[in-house]
Amino acid sequence: RTLRRYLSLDDFEATARRLLPKFLYGYIAGGAETDASVRDNRRAFDEYGFVPRVLNDVSGREQTTTLFGKTYAAPFGIPPMGSAALCAYRGDVVLTRAAAAMNLPMILSASSLITLEEVRRENPAAWYQAYLAGDPSRIEPLVDRVAAAGYDTFVVTADVPVPPNRENNIRNGFRVPLAITPRVAFAVMTHPHWLFRTWMRTVTNHGMPHFENMDASRGPPVLSQNLMRNIGKRDQLAWKHVELIRRRWNGKLVVKGLIAPADARIARESGVDGVIVSNHGGRQLDYTMSALRTLPEIAAQANGMTVMLDGGIRRGTDVLKALSLGAQFVFVGRPFLFAAVAGGEAGVRRALTLLKDEIDRDMALLGIRSIGEISSDLVRRF
Ligand code: FNR
Repeated sequence: RTLRRYLSLDDFEATARRLLPKFLYGYIAGGAETDASVRDNRRAFDEYGFVPRVLNDVSGREQTTTLFGKTYAAPFGIPPMGSAALCAYRGDVVLTRAAAAMNLPMILSASSLITLEEVRRENPAAWYQAYLAGDPSRIEPLVDRVAAAGYDTFVVTADVPVPPNRENNIRNGFRVPLAITPRVAFAVMTHPHWLFRTWMRTVTNHGMPHFENMDASRGPPVLSQNLMRNIGKRDQLAWKHVELIRRRWNGKLVVKGLIAPADARIARESGVDGVIVSNHGGRQLDYTMSALRTLPEIAAQANGMTVMLDGGIRRGTDVLKALSLGAQFVFVGRPFLFAAVAGGEAGVRRALTLLKDEIDRDMALLGIRSIGEISSDLVRRF
């Protein structure tokens, strides 16, 4: 099977849609309620155009980017995506190995089905993302476990105080814990590729998948009714807990999922090393505006804190727009999970390479040779 027929990041979605039971495709693709934020994540990028420069000698281009003292091959990485191993066989390992092979960062999700220790062994450069309850007695052992595993970057996702309202999941019968309803069973039976290549293979080789990383201890299996116990008290999480982690965690600390410039300022005052400006891919509060819209204001007051962004990035031109408007780094979610479904590790490598090649070509056409030459002069609002 040839991966060469995938020419852009959006090309992986159709294959993934065909291979996945409807409830899993909907889980990845969907947003909250009316998908207004999902749409705004694209619209915000569409509102900017380039003002390229010419005759600049753009030979010897370099897109390497230094982030938290590490130099990566390109200015983008893979953000945390929960349940990746339910969508693609060993999904988190597939994503992290592809990222490692390309020298790009990958963030492991708290709601992954593979232990954080194993992912760290596969990719010593992976970051860890936590979903936390507002309860120090549950935060501290997890921070210690992540440190013991050797991670150097800890990401706190801040925009999930309560489970979101994703009606497409309800309609398709997808919920956690997973329940084998007639609708789900039908979707599975009509998608034998997923049934055999992902689910049966997982259960045969590794046993029932568990949500491994929500706590300091091994988490409950995906079918366990105990699962919701683990997400209690998330609505009590507050900045004082970020400060507590700051005191306990010696590595880099990142807060993901803020949009308000005022929150970015509090993050900086709390000793956070970086923020990922994000509306969670439009999956939490519907009508939250695209991160691109508040990015310039946040970047202007960053004062040394690293500013990153995600949501809706699908092209090299999107990456370069975000960097022009003040981001130092970006993350791209859904396309890489679709690529994992469509082509496993090689598929993700193909997708990462496509985006990197687009950035290289776009840099030449923009008249720049390095990421350091990017400035707001390169873009204008239509
Ligand atoms: C996510 N996202 C997410 N974020 C997070 O902090 N922890 C998580 O466990 C998850 N899980 C998750 C699952 C799936 C299937 C998707 C699509 C997304 C949000 C993710 O990290 C990122 O913010 C968005 O995906 C970025 O938007 P795009 O690139 O998908 O448009």
